[in-house]
Amino acid sequence: DTFVIIMAGGIGSRFWPVSTERKPKQFLDMLGTGKTLFQHTIDRFSDICSVRNIFVVTSAQYIDIALEQGPEIPESNVLAEPVMRNTAPCIAYASYKIRKLNPNANIIVTPSDHLIEQKQLFQKTLQKGLNFVKDRDAILTIGIQPHRPETGYGYIQMGESDKEIGKVKAFKEKPDLETAKTYLESKEYLWNAGIFIWSVKSIVRAFETYMPAMARVFDNGNDIYFTDKEQSFIDLVYPTFENISIDYSMLEKADNLYVQKAHFDWSDLGTWTALWERSTRNYTGDTVSSENAYLYETSNNIIHVPEDKVVVVQGLSEYIIVESNNVLLICSKGEEQRIKAFRHKASNSK
Ligand code: GDD
Ligand code: MG
Repeated sequence: DTFVIIMAGGIGSRFWPVSTERKPKQFLDMLGTGKTLFQHTIDRFSDICSVRNIFVVTSAQYIDIALEQGPEIPESNVLAEPVMRNTAPCIAYASYKIRKLNPNANIIVTPSDHLIEQKQLFQKTLQKGLNFVKDRDAILTIGIQPHRPETGYGYIQMGESDKEIGKVKAFKEKPDLETAKTYLESKEYLWNAGIFIWSVKSIVRAFETYMPAMARVFDNGNDIYFTDKEQSFIDLVYPTFENISIDYSMLEKADNLYVQKAHFDWSDLGTWTALWERSTRNYTGDTVSSENAYLYETSNNIIHVPEDKVVVVQGLSEYIIVESNNVLLICSKGEEQRIKAFRHKASNSK
């Protein structure tokens, strides 16, 4: 049996002010396709398993949005976290529940906010991955050929680089810019796509090894999963967990990590520049969301304002200009990693 865990509880803070805590980017139609990133994610798994085997983990405050956008997912498969604790507890919670349904299952863990358009190629890749982990104690992650020294990703050093699936030599989460540059030049590294494939047995073993206290709590909860006592148990224990991602807590340490090369196009859509790379640009390289834009001596800006907004820009290159939710942000593209901090400051001042 194959199960899928969709992680949908992030707040997409680098996409502020369009992505907000009230409605983060996975629940927005970032690309104007008529579907949100979360809905595209559900779609991508349609031929991999039945929707009954898809679990969504999200913040309690997004449960209604998730149910509304994913009506095909059974309501009891949408799990509510009382507080944000990053991806390690989120993956553990759903995995221990799935273990109760089928201790021999295999699980694909996926982010909810990426852009992957080649659905068939994607599914073929994952099928191969599922076959690989079937009878192995392995954590398999999907690796992407890097093309810029991005500091927001995990970097995977592949041991057997001639193979499609190879043992990982080293994993480094979010290196600084200098390190990212050396990784890129060495040509030995892949980006971590954030998609993981493993068996329930391997997941449980990994949590027992790297996060034993949390593993014990989820193990203790076994009898109450899928009963009416589950939510109050989760509400009680969740705040006690460490706030940490799976990348820092496990992938940097695990010795049974493997990577599979992805041949499909992938974009994290994590930042304005990533969106700009994916959007249709005019002849000066600007992308503009308004019909009423007047641009003079501009190039390579991303201008994202309400459709009916009149906007005039002169003399700017490589800038992000965004108006949304009553916030106006003007920031150079090179400094966009700071948007997270800008959001924090601005939201606290209100
Ligand atoms: N349920 C839940 N709870 N989901 C969460 C939480 C949480 O507390 N925090 C984040 N998520 C979801 C996000 O919505 C997203 O879909 C996914 O988990 C990944 O979290 P991000 O916060 O977007 O991680 P990241 O982009 O900084 O880094 C990860 O992804 C990169 C690729 O996009 C890492 O895995 C990197 O190594 C990787 O390169
Ligand atoms: Mg991300």
